[in-house]
Amino acid sequence: MNINRNLLLIQCLEALGLVLEYDLNDNSAHQHAIRVGEMCAVIAEKVGLPPYKIQQLYFAGLIHDIGKIGIDVNLLRQKRKLTDAEFKLVQPHSVIGGKIAAALPELSDLAFWIRWHHEKWDGTGYPDGLAGSQIPVEVQILSAIDCFDSLQTPRLDRDKLSQDESEKVIRDQRGTSFNPVIVDLISDMIEKDEIIPGKSSDKFIEIKEKYINRNYQDGADDYWDGLGMAGMYPILRLFARVIDAKHGYTQGHSTRVSILSKYIAKKAGFSLDDIIKVEVAGLLHDAGKISIPNEVLDKAYSPDSNEWELIKNHPLHSYNILKHINLMSEIAEITKQHHERLDGSGYPGGYSENSIGLLAQIIAISDSFDAMTSDRSYREMCNTEAAYAEIANGAGTLYNREFARILTDTPSYYIRALFDMHLE
Ligand SMILES: [Fe+2]
Ligand SMILES: [Fe+2]
Ligand SMILES: [Fe+2]
Repeated sequence: MNINRNLLLIQCLEALGLVLEYDLNDNSAHQHAIRVGEMCAVIAEKVGLPPYKIQQLYFAGLIHDIGKIGIDVNLLRQKRKLTDAEFKLVQPHSVIGGKIAAALPELSDLAFWIRWHHEKWDGTGYPDGLAGSQIPVEVQILSAIDCFDSLQTPRLDRDKLSQDESEKVIRDQRGTSFNPVIVDLISDMIEKDEIIPGKSSDKFIEIKEKYINRNYQDGADDYWDGLGMAGMYPILRLFARVIDAKHGYTQGHSTRVSILSKYIAKKAGFSLDDIIKVEVAGLLHDAGKISIPNEVLDKAYSPDSNEWELIKNHPLHSYNILKHINLMSEIAEITKQHHERLDGSGYPGGYSENSIGLLAQIIAISDSFDAMTSDRSYREMCNTEAAYAEIANGAGTLYNREFARILTDTPSYYIRALFDMHLE
C-alpha cells in the first residue's frame, strides 16, 4: 500500500475531529472541532502567521479536546452543570491532550497549544496559569474561537446560544479570558463575512489548498517513504485509542484485534500488502461504535430490539467515517463486513460466504475471540479454552474454517505473550 503520510495525517486528523464530537453531544456530530480548525486557519492567515503555523493551528483546532479520551465519559455527558469538584476532574484533558499530540513528531509543536487551550489572558486559566504574551498568539486565537463556537454547539447541559449571543459572551471576556485585540479581530472578521461561523468559507478552501495540504518538514517525505506503512502506525494507533476510550471495557480491543488478525493472516500465507491491510483494518474496525450511545453499550443486560438495531449499524458507521479518509477506501470495505457471518446470519448486510472478503473473515474471528475473552458489560467473559471451543463450533458456518483452525491451534500462552508484547 503506497500511502502519502502527510495526506494520511491530515485525513486522519479530520476524521478524528469528527469522531471526537460524537461522544460528547448526545451522539450526533456537530462538527465543533472542524469549525474551530477552519476558523482558526482563516484568522491565522489574516494575521499573517507563517504557512506552517496556519497548518498547525488548523490541526490544533481539530483535536484540541482529544485529551477528553482520558476523562470519565460520565462526567463529560452530564445533563447538568458540573460542580466545581467535577470540573476539576475534567481540567486535565488539556494536559492529556498535549501529551497525546507530543507523541507524534508532526504534532509536537502544537502539543503546547493543546496543553494551553484553557489558559486565560488574565492568568486565571489552567494548567500553567500563563498570562498575556506568555500565551502564544496561536493559543489566543484557538481559545477565543473554541469558546465562541462551543457556545453555539448544542450540549446536554445547556441550550445553545445564537451567534450574536456567543459573540457577546466573548466580548464580555475581552481582557479577562481573551486578548482584546483577538476579540476585536474576530468581531471585525465576522462583520465583514471573512469568517462565517457554522460553515466552510471559500477563503478556508483556498487556504487549505495553499497552506494546509502541504508537508513542511524537510526531507520528511523521504524519511517516511523509507519507513513505509510502519510510519503510519503512530497515527493509526492514536485513532484506535480514541475509539477504544469511548467505553471502558473495550480498552485495548482494537489493538488486540489488529495484532491477532495480523498473526492469522501471516500464518495463512497472505501477501505483505494484505497483512498490512488487515492490521490497519483491525485498528479501525470499530470506529463506528462511537455512534452508539454509551447507555446502550454500557448496559448490564442484553440490549433490547431497538438497541440491537443501533449496534448492528456500527460497521456501516465505521465505513462512513473511514470513507472520509480516501486513502483508506479498501480498509473501509473490510470494516463494513467485520460482523458478517458465512451462513448469512451476520449484520448489517446478512451477506453469505462468497460476498465476504477474506480479510474481513479474519477480523471477524479475532474480533469474536477478543469479545469472548474480555469483559463485556452484559455478559461474563470466558477463558481462552472456552472461546476456542466456541470458535471451533462455528467453524464452517459462522467463521472461515481455515482461519478458525489457525487460531484454535495456537496455544493460549502464545496469544497472551503476543498481546503482552504489543500492548502498553
Ligand atoms: Fe477543552
Ligand atoms: Fe464491531
Ligand atoms: Fe470489535
